[in-house]
Amino acid sequence: MIKGVKTQSLSGKRVAISGATGGLGRPLCRYFAALGASLVLLDRNGERSRALGAELVGEFPTLSVSYLRVDMEDIASVAAAADELKKAPLDLLVLNAGAYNIPRHKCSTGYDNVFQINFVSPYCLARALRAHIDACGGRVVAVGSIAHNYCRADLSDVDFSTRTKSSHAYGNSKRYLMFSLYALYGGASGLAVAHPGISFTGITAHYPKVIFALIKHPMKVIFMRPKRACLSILRGCFEDCGVNEWIGPRFFNVWGKPKKRTLTTCPPDEAAKIAEVAERVWGENAERFQ
Ligand SMILES: NC(=O)c1ccc[n+]([C@@H]2O[C@H](COP(=O)([O-])OP(=O)(O)OC[C@H]3O[C@@H](n4cnc5c(N)ncnc54)[C@H](OP(=O)(O)O)[C@@H]3O)[C@@H](O)[C@H]2O)c1
Repeated sequence: MIKGVKTQSLSGKRVAISGATGGLGRPLCRYFAALGASLVLLDRNGERSRALGAELVGEFPTLSVSYLRVDMEDIASVAAAADELKKAPLDLLVLNAGAYNIPRHKCSTGYDNVFQINFVSPYCLARALRAHIDACGGRVVAVGSIAHNYCRADLSDVDFSTRTKSSHAYGNSKRYLMFSLYALYGGASGLAVAHPGISFTGITAHYPKVIFALIKHPMKVIFMRPKRACLSILRGCFEDCGVNEWIGPRFFNVWGKPKKRTLTTCPPDEAAKIAEVAERVWGENAERFQ
């Protein structure tokens, strides 16, 4: 048991996590290591990834840690990582990497990079590895966001590449990630969707400089620290979510212990459209994932 999350030993389990070096990734890795998992860190920055691995081994000397370089903007690196991950049993795949207010451009898939990082790459990774993870009795844990409710899917601008508001581009991509995975699993076991509420990490440092300087310190006090905010994601590692269920902080979705709730934020017809687009995206990229 870790602070209100009913955990089990992860001894002998292999856990892969994207965005391991990020604000929530780091404490998550620590929890996994403390529970005895062997870790596969999926990061784009090899140096930072190895430094984190060394830090973790310093704290947990028996930890086994390996590294796969994955840039979620680059679908070829995602496909290569999927190939590597298939070579050994995989018990948990934590789709944690995410980006919010970053310079926008089109990726090689033709999709906007925010959409690519938060939806296209993690969806393809989950899609490619689902049978492998299912065969191990494992689980995919997707990190969603309350921002998924900032917008509605628009089939005339699927990746929101014409939208300049980063909250909308980000929200749209998280909406696609969450509702495409609900559709993919259709209530079957092996999926959890979780969110941290709001926590001060790299991703929340997206406000204009002056505003950021003013709110930085109050934010640290008002919102949960990453170590607590990531507990909802940790709970998702031990508990499935059915269609439209997610796990997040108990109070107003931003504070307190993890709680499972049912979402009513996406009507069935929109969810069906999202699922259709997701399968189209998979179809466009499936050849790379063999
Ligand atoms: N913090 C919050 O309030 C909050 C709220 C709702 C949801 N979330 C979600 O929680 C997850 C973790 O975010 P965080 O709060 O820990 O933010 P963070 O500190 O910015 O960490 C984000 C992680 O994603 C990685 N990443 C970004 N772009 C990438 C790319 N192209 N390829 C590979 N990795 C990439 C980053 O790697 P680099 O270090 O190399 O950039 C970093 O490790 C995200 O999915 C985010 O959307 C966070």
